[in-house]
Amino acid sequence: MTEGSTTPGASAVSLRDVALRFEGGRDGSDYLALQSVHLQVRDGEFFCLLGPSGCGKTSLLNLVAGFLSPTAGEVQVQGQSVKCPRRDRGVVFQSDRALFDWLTVEENVSFGPRMLGVSETVWRPDVESMLRLVGLWDHRSKLPRELSGGMKQRVQIARVLANDPDILLMDEPFAALDAHTRAHLQKEVSRIWSASRRTVLFVTHDIAEAIWLADRIGIMTRGPGSSIGQIFEVTLPRPRARMTAAFIDLFNQLSEAIDQQAGVSPLVETRA
Ligand SMILES: Nc1ncnc2c1ncn2[C@@H]1O[C@H](COP(=O)(O)OP(=O)(O)OP(=O)(O)O)[C@@H](O)[C@H]1O
Ligand SMILES: [Mg+2]
Repeated sequence: MTEGSTTPGASAVSLRDVALRFEGGRDGSDYLALQSVHLQVRDGEFFCLLGPSGCGKTSLLNLVAGFLSPTAGEVQVQGQSVKCPRRDRGVVFQSDRALFDWLTVEENVSFGPRMLGVSETVWRPDVESMLRLVGLWDHRSKLPRELSGGMKQRVQIARVLANDPDILLMDEPFAALDAHTRAHLQKEVSRIWSASRRTVLFVTHDIAEAIWLADRIGIMTRGPGSSIGQIFEVTLPRPRARMTAAFIDLFNQLSEAIDQQAGVSPLVETRA
């Protein structure tokens, strides 16, 4: 399919029979990271990916972002074949090294709208509200090297939200944050999502975070040749309260499914 052609009634994100092979490792070997991946993320859906470390979650996100091309199969966004990164997909990376080192916090966050030629009277209030949202208003004149890892991550989140993308691709965006900031941002992302209904593809290691945020949760199988093994529907009403019986029940089901994929045997209760 050529860039620009669309499939009517398509999902926001679609992966059909996707494989990804990394070639030419240092020892000359290849690694088949993904195989037979099928995924349809609905328009406006919050979809979380959970899975063991190294199974291919970041690789899958990079395919949707357009940073990687599949070895086989097809990746589509809004019915168009993904060929390269585009502004309609905002990416929050797993590492905190994605900022422009020479720009202040505020300049980093306002970079997208400024590059698009949006007038300052329009972008300034949005950028201010994003900086306040992530708790960095008082640090807006600092450079990234003057920030902690968690603060840098919050700049990334604010920068992506300021670009107002149709699809948010988030790779463990809260992993580096303290528990309080993490809970605050989870709540805010959930609130922003409820208000705007943007499509979100969100990677996390945190089962509770996935239940807290997602409409559906996909469990990735262990590599090589990882795929999406099981998909769980989260039907708990929003806003969600932790520690309800239904929350704990789903937590246990997901935990068991991930252990199975990671090859961990369930704990056996022993008596002395
Ligand atoms: N550029 C690359 N070249 C070769 N192999 C790679 C490359 N990037 C990733 N891999 C391999 O592909 C597999 C999947 O990596 P990926 O980073 O997608 O995992 P992940 O699920 O995001 O892990 P984590 O939860 O630890 O972040 C791993 O075995 C990794 O070693
Ligand atoms: Mg990763």
